[in-house]
Amino acid sequence: MVPLPVNIAEYEPLARERVEPTAWDYISGGANDEISLTRNVAAFRRISLLPRVLVDVTTVDTSVRLLGHTLPTPILIAPTGFQTLAHPDGELATARAATAAGTVMVLSTMSAYTIEEISAAAAGIKWFQLYCYRNRSVTQRLVERAEAAGHEAICVTVDVPRVGRRERDLRSRFELPDHAQPRNFVGLIEQEAADGELDFADYIASLVDPSLTWEIVEWLRSVTSLPIFLKGVHHPDDAQRAVDHGAEGIIVSNHGGRQLDGVPAAIDMLPGIAEAVDGKITVLLDGGIRRGTDVAKALAIGADAVLIGRPCLWGLAVDGEAGVKRVLDLLREELELAMALLGRNMIADLDQLSHLT
Ligand code: FNR
Repeated sequence: MVPLPVNIAEYEPLARERVEPTAWDYISGGANDEISLTRNVAAFRRISLLPRVLVDVTTVDTSVRLLGHTLPTPILIAPTGFQTLAHPDGELATARAATAAGTVMVLSTMSAYTIEEISAAAAGIKWFQLYCYRNRSVTQRLVERAEAAGHEAICVTVDVPRVGRRERDLRSRFELPDHAQPRNFVGLIEQEAADGELDFADYIASLVDPSLTWEIVEWLRSVTSLPIFLKGVHHPDDAQRAVDHGAEGIIVSNHGGRQLDGVPAAIDMLPGIAEAVDGKITVLLDGGIRRGTDVAKALAIGADAVLIGRPCLWGLAVDGEAGVKRVLDLLREELELAMALLGRNMIADLDQLSHLT
């Protein structure tokens, strides 16, 4: 019998045993030398937590308010593409686990099941991650479908004017298998792909708009009434511009180390951004969160909530829906214990004084 993992890190080697080696490289890898990928996790270890003692922690409340919902924890699921690489149920299982945990699943544009199939599988809270295509009518159609399927926010990814150089995938000549294709595009631009030389997935990736500018926020506002988050903000001045353009929020993220290698760890970008934003919009963070204490650190430094990417894929690979749910549960339990040991009863109590860098 396989022992039940007692923490998230223990899911990683179990997941690796279950995933095709080239797909494993796609999931785990980062860009170039994977400096930023490594930094994301390492940076959390550098940050210390500073408890207060003799606080009554009989009750600890990990819940947060986000876009009109009370979530049981400030831990959301980051968008990751092609989840059938990890498990045949892919995004359907993740959506069901998110629903069971009461949290938000951010669905990737590049899902292996369609927007509509995933919404039919689980009624929980969903946000849609959007890649913007050169063809704005295709982009608009995706937004309209997400809205019609009940998504409550659009997270437009802004750190992919071009796809980063992921050398593990080049080395393994990784190609998406038939069971992990960008199904949202079938019927939308399938014929164009069939006419060209690239395979379907590469063709879709090649259509992402490299000329995207801040105008996208106004354009999105003209096609949807949903709140808009910008995912992949690194610089405090860009965070300030997101405020100026009326975004609902930003996701401080280096795309899990998969885009520009050499950028800081996500958590190291947070202090400057939190200062620039000064509470005017919602600040989320992803990249390298592997422990409940990492969540506490991110919130103490200024995030309103966090997202996790790869750990959900590990849980998914090991045990489908139940595995994703257990990863979320482990993080919740760890966060709750961390808050008790910090002498903090509520998420709002996780302030700057809770940590030492
Ligand atoms: C991603 N990420 C991502 N981001 C996005 O905006 N759209 C996408 O389709 C994907 N796809 C994707 C696939 C895989 C396999 C990974 C690992 C990541 C980035 C993701 O949303 C998030 O920023 C990082 O995964 C966060 O880092 P951790 O939690 O994986 O360390």
